[in-house]
Amino acid sequence: MAERERFRADKIIELRNLVKVFDGITVVDDVNLNIRKGEFVTFLGPSGCGKTTTLRLIAGFEKPTSGKVFIEGADVTETPYFKDMRCFLISMFLGMWHLA
Ligand SMILES: Nc1ncnc2c1ncn2[C@@H]1O[C@H](COP(=O)(O)OP(=O)(O)OP(=O)(O)O)[C@@H](O)[C@H]1O
Ligand SMILES: [Mg+2]
Repeated sequence: MAERERFRADKIIELRNLVKVFDGITVVDDVNLNIRKGEFVTFLGPSGCGKTTTLRLIAGFEKPTSGKVFIEGADVTETPYFKDMRCFLISMFLGMWHLA
């Protein structure tokens, strides 16, 4: 497999133009992010900047106002979290997040 193709295939989480608006306030503003196998990613920012909301969007606990969430290349934006494997992985991660 060519290096470029392997790079693409290893993409585990992709956020594409992700937007979340609560009560007219844009909390997640056009976020684009690719997380690849083996990468360790943290969100840093002041309180209320949208870190937890972004994680909840990835987990499927919230639906984005617009944009898409892909897990291993599959568009899971409209998939209820309990219908795929996200809940196991991301709930664990969110749990650790809240303990931190
Ligand atoms: N369900 C909701 N309904 C309305 N507003 C919400 C909701 N969830 C979050 N918000 C608002 O969205 C903004 C971002 O919240 P979020 O919890 O994502 O921030 P955060 O970066 O995780 O902050 P912290 O560092 O304090 O955990 C805040 O202004 C918050 O009040
Ligand atoms: Mg938070």
